[in-house]
Amino acid sequence: MFIRNAWYVAAWADEVADTPLARRICGDAVVLFRDKQGKAAALIDMCCHRGAPLSIGKVTDLGIECGYHGLTFDCAGTCVRIPGQEQIPARARVRSFPLVEQDGFLWIWMGEAAKAGTSSIVRYPWHNDATNWPHKHTLYPVKGAAMLMVDNLMDLTHLGYVHTSTIGGNPMTHVEAKMDTVRTPLGIKFTRWMLNSVPPPTYVKASGFTGRIDRAQQFEFIAPGSIIQLSAADEAGAFKDGLPENCKLQFRLFHGLTPETETTCHYFWSTANGFRPNDPAATEQLFQEIAGAFMEDMAVVQGQQARLTELGEDALVDIVSDAARIHMRRVVDRLLAKEHQAMAAE
Ligand code: FES
Ligand SMILES: [Fe+2]
Repeated sequence: MFIRNAWYVAAWADEVADTPLARRICGDAVVLFRDKQGKAAALIDMCCHRGAPLSIGKVTDLGIECGYHGLTFDCAGTCVRIPGQEQIPARARVRSFPLVEQDGFLWIWMGEAAKAGTSSIVRYPWHNDATNWPHKHTLYPVKGAAMLMVDNLMDLTHLGYVHTSTIGGNPMTHVEAKMDTVRTPLGIKFTRWMLNSVPPPTYVKASGFTGRIDRAQQFEFIAPGSIIQLSAADEAGAFKDGLPENCKLQFRLFHGLTPETETTCHYFWSTANGFRPNDPAATEQLFQEIAGAFMEDMAVVQGQQARLTELGEDALVDIVSDAARIHMRRVVDRLLAKEHQAMAAE
């Protein structure tokens, strides 16, 4: 079950050119493409003639042309050409999904189109600020449910166990991190403070810390699948009055988790370098370090998914560090229930 009346990242904007891209989202086969004017569109990936996937076709001046018998559909899914036939039946159309290009993403709405208000799309202005926050992005296909990846990001006590060689550090530093938490209508925001702690390897590489550091991580989860993160660190003592405007080390991460199926997801993520913005090598190094760390997360989550599929969730036990994760799950469950109630009432 997925929340459908919500915006999900369907693709990075630069992934979609005029070659059709097939991507399963929330269980539905979708084809993404750009028309000749550069407008991006999303249609169900099935031709209404004989059911061929539209993604095996090509983009023409009129829209996307099916690769089987040449029916062509515009960005709205209306059939605009049938080879050898003048009359186009009114029923000759395929489902189109609302799609918005913003902040380097293509956002898709998988539910009722009439409810797709664009003001609820998560904004991420740092992707548009190459001067102060140069970034790099990619997509990992994960053989694990989107919610398991969100769980992973809501309980950072895993850092000291999963990421010892990168962004980790002493396990107890993470377990004992002080948490400031704010609940929001669509999720949760928290800051983790690790003052006077030993810098993890990635931080030493990035900023050459030699002594102890003050370290903070801010996470904001916005349902159904966006997490906005700021990580900051400076010499020990620097955070005694809260998080300073600028820190010796500061970077931002965007995490977009979009369900593919119930047990697989697309992990869209980016790193933005706010500590040495004029140094492309620093931007690249940050990206590579985080890429390594996220591979470590994926390995755990994929193993976890395999076990949960095999043995179910009934025997799982919550612990204290699950608090943010549990709140996040409650928000998602509430939104799902609300959506199903509305559907039942209609
Ligand atoms: S199946 Fe697409 S044109 Fe025939
Ligand atoms: Fe992790």
